[in-house]
Formats: sequence, structure tokens, C-alpha cells
Amino acid sequence: MKTDVEHGDFDTVGLSGDGRKLVILDQTRLPGRAVFLELDGLEEIRQAIYLLKVRGAPAIGVAAAIGLYVRANRMLEEGAASEDAFVSALRAEAGVIGSARPTAVNLQWALDRMLARAERCRGLGAAGIAAALKDEALRIRDGDIAVCRKLGEHGLALLEPGQGILTHCNAGRLATVRYGTATAPIYLGHERGYGFKVYADETRPLLQGARLTAFELRQAGIDVTLICDNMAATVMKQGRIQAVITGCDRLAANGDAANKIGTLGVAILAHHYGIPFYVAVPTSSIDFTIPDGRAIRIEERPGGEIREMWYSEPMAPEGVRTYNPAFDVTDADLVSGIITEYGVLRPPYGPALERLHATLRARAEAGEGGHHV
Ligand code: MRU
Repeated sequence: MKTDVEHGDFDTVGLSGDGRKLVILDQTRLPGRAVFLELDGLEEIRQAIYLLKVRGAPAIGVAAAIGLYVRANRMLEEGAASEDAFVSALRAEAGVIGSARPTAVNLQWALDRMLARAERCRGLGAAGIAAALKDEALRIRDGDIAVCRKLGEHGLALLEPGQGILTHCNAGRLATVRYGTATAPIYLGHERGYGFKVYADETRPLLQGARLTAFELRQAGIDVTLICDNMAATVMKQGRIQAVITGCDRLAANGDAANKIGTLGVAILAHHYGIPFYVAVPTSSIDFTIPDGRAIRIEERPGGEIREMWYSEPMAPEGVRTYNPAFDVTDADLVSGIITEYGVLRPPYGPALERLHATLRARAEAGEGGHHV
């Protein structure tokens, strides 16, 4: 995989050259240091996802898939007893990796794809199954790159040169393998001289906007301005923003969209100021099994992230009660368009998503794509 962060030629997540380790760019060290971690322990893979060393819905899906393959390889080396025991052990390890974070659907989606492939390969023996898992994990990774690029083309068609674009959290190349989702139209527009002016919300409490979005856009030579979350209303009111684009961790069948905490507030502000609010969603982040956002499990994280992180001294009284939901759900009626790799969906989203689901099912039946249907 590519690891030249200084020159912008890197993959966020991949497989080591010898095929034995999951490699991730440790996002908790950015923007100060570019450190790649090589992982093959079950607990270290789970922790890397839980601690946001690798984060962003598509990236954690790819990390889980490659992580499970790496674990399969280790089991083989340690001498798997029988095919049944091998597949059971894989299921148990997938359960551990999948427990790391609950909101992004891609994590379970990628693991389900890996386990389904293992089931289809029964009869080939443990070594045959492991070889198939390597192929599946690399397909998931390569699929992510292709999907983000297509999504970028559809998103760019919604934008005009010179526009001000606000984004929240990091749905950039660091959240995927390359281009990003919300940033894919921005990168493509940059290649074509659109001259966008991007405003990045810093994104409290974990500062993905400040540490990651500002870092990657700046490194790409894109005009980016960092603002605190509570400045979004002001830049909108001042007429600096013509479109908002965010990512999504899980989109329900009615178009309700879970994304990083604070996204809902941005959507309400955009609605107030008549600014289009777009959600960029690869179909791997759509959960067709849930009718609306009320069924989305929202991850709650430790209060220390609010009280103590990032400053040399705690910035809140010791022991103060905190509430730290990591995501919120933007109601579908606040969303102007859902940008997918198949095109832009417009309201009413229920029927539009049903049609998309039918397309994905047909593709899956024809043996194309790897969508959950
Ligand atoms: O907690 P994080 O940093 O994993 O949250 C990430 C987001 O909310 C992103 O916007 C989302 O995963 C989409 S990434 C293309």
C-alpha cells in the first residue's frame, strides 16, 4: 500500500507487503506525525478501531475486512484443527472486531461479507477459505476507492466553481481508503480548477475536522478555513457558504442519516439559511433493514473526551457529569440530496431508496458488486 503521507501519496488502510499485517495510518497522531501501525492481534485490531486510530465508516469497514483476513492467516499458521473449527473461530473473532463501534454500518457490513465468502468456500479447507478471504478483503478495499470516485463525480455536478462549501467532521480520504465521500467532489473539483472555498468545522470533542479535514485538504492544496463548530451559523449568515456536504455512518430506509455529533445542528442551520445540505453516502453505509433513524444505535463515549482531552490541564471540573453521544441523526426532511455512487437521490427518499435497493439486489443476483441486500 502507498505510505508517502508527506507527498499525499498514501492509503489510509491496507495490507502489508508480506500479506500478514493490517496496516493503518494512526489518525490519533495526525496532524503532527504520520505513523503507520502494523497489526495482527485480535485485541489490537479491536482497540485500533475503538480508539479511532482508524476511523470513518468506510475505513473501519476496510480495516475490519483486512483485519479478519490477517487473523485467518495467523490461525492457519498456528495450525487450524478442522474447517468447521476454523470457520467458528473466524465467526468469534468477527464478533469481537464488530463490537468495537456500533453506529457505522460498514463495520458489520464488511465482516458479514467476509463471513458469507467463508461460508461459500466451505469444502476448500482452511487454506482455501483464507485465500478467498484475502481476495474478498482486497475487493472491499478496491471497491471503496472506485465508489468514492464515482460518488465524487455525482456530487461535483451539484456544485459551481468558486462556491463556499462547509463540511463537518472528516469524511475525507482519511475516512476511506482514498478520495473520501463528502470530500470526493471537492478533490475532483480541485483537479478541474473549481476553486472551492472549504470551511471545516473543528468537530468537538475529538476534533476530526481540525486534526484531519484541515490537514488533508491543506496538504492537497485546497483552500480550507478552519472554524469552531459554533461559528457555522455566522459563516452561513455572512453568505460564505453555498452548499454543505457531510458524510454518513448509517442511512435508514427513509433517508434519516446518522453522522458525527453536530451534523444535525449544521443541517438545521442550513435549512434556516436556505443552503442545500447534501449527505454523501456510499451504498455500503445504507441500512435498508431499519425504517428510520430511531432504530440507529448511537455510540456513547467516555466523558474524559469532553473533560480532559487535548488541553494540558483538564478544562472542566473533576468529576463533573458528562453526556458524550458520538453521533446524531439528521432527519431526512432536512437533507436536500443523498449523493451515492449510483447518482443523487432526491426526496421523497423512501421510494428513491427502494428503487436503489432493487438495483443493488439485481446486481447481487447477477453476481456483481458486494452489496448487502
Ligand atoms: O467517530 P468517527 O470519526 O469515526 O466519525 C466519522 C464520521 O462521522 C464521518 O462523517 C462518517 O464516518 C463518514 S466517513 C466517509
